[in-house]
Amino acid sequence: MSTCYLNGEFLPLDEARVPALDRGFIFGDGVYEVVPAYGGRPFRLEEHLARLRRSLAEVSIDDPMDVAAWANLVRELVDRNAPADQCIYIQVTRGVASRDHAFPSGTRPTVFAYSFPFPHVSDALRSSGAAAITLPDQRWLRAHIKSISLLGNVLARQASVDAGAHEAILVREGWVTEASASNVWVVRAGRLCAPPRDNLKLEGVRMDLIGSLAGAGGVAVERRPVAEWELR
Ligand SMILES: Cc1ncc(COP(=O)(O)O)c(C=O)c1O
Repeated sequence: MSTCYLNGEFLPLDEARVPALDRGFIFGDGVYEVVPAYGGRPFRLEEHLARLRRSLAEVSIDDPMDVAAWANLVRELVDRNAPADQCIYIQVTRGVASRDHAFPSGTRPTVFAYSFPFPHVSDALRSSGAAAITLPDQRWLRAHIKSISLLGNVLARQASVDAGAHEAILVREGWVTEASASNVWVVRAGRLCAPPRDNLKLEGVRMDLIGSLAGAGGVAVERRPVAEWELR
C-alpha cells in the first residue's frame, strides 16, 4: 500500500480518512493537480505548481503552502515510490464545514496527495491509434480551472467507453475545445494546430512543450480556433 499525505502527515493510503462534511465531498469544492514523475524526476514541477496556485486563486481557496513546501511534498512522495514512473495527485478542498453553499469562515483547506503508477500507453495502442468519439461540450464555462468537480468530464469519458472508444473529444458551437482528460492537437496540411488558451479548456502543461518541440523540429505550429469539420 503506497504512502499518502493528508493534512501534514504521511500515512498508508488505506488509513487516510476525510470527514464526510469536507466540502470536496459535499460540493466538489476544490482543485487538483497531477504531476508525472519519470525515473524519480518530477516533470515540469514548476509549471504544475504554478497551475495549482492559479486554480486555488480562481476559486478563492487560500494557498495552504508556499511553492517550496509544495515542491518538497511532491519530491518526498516521488522518492518514496521511485524509481517507477508515477503520477503525484494533489487535491486541495475548501475544508470541513456545516453544509452551506457560501464560503465558511476560518476553515482550514484539506490537503491530500498520493502517488499512483504512471499509466503508460501500450506499444500496440500507439501503433493502432486510439479511437475517439465527439460530443457536445456541456461543461461549465470555467474549464481552465483544474476543479475536482469533474462530472461533465466523467460522463463524457464514460460515453466514449460505452461506444468502445478511448476518449471523447468535446465540441462547443462547432469548435473543438478539448477531450475529457486531455488536450487535442490536429494535424492539417502539415501543420500542428491546437485551439487557443482560454476559459473553455484546461491548458495542459504539455501544450507548451509540444509546441516548442514541434517548432524546433521545423513543424509549423498554430494555436487558433479548430473547427469540428477540420478535426473530422
Ligand atoms: C480536461 C483536461 N484537459 C487537458 C488535460 C491535459 O493536461 P496536462 O497535459 O497538464 O496533463 C487534462 C489532464 O488531466 C485534463 O483533465
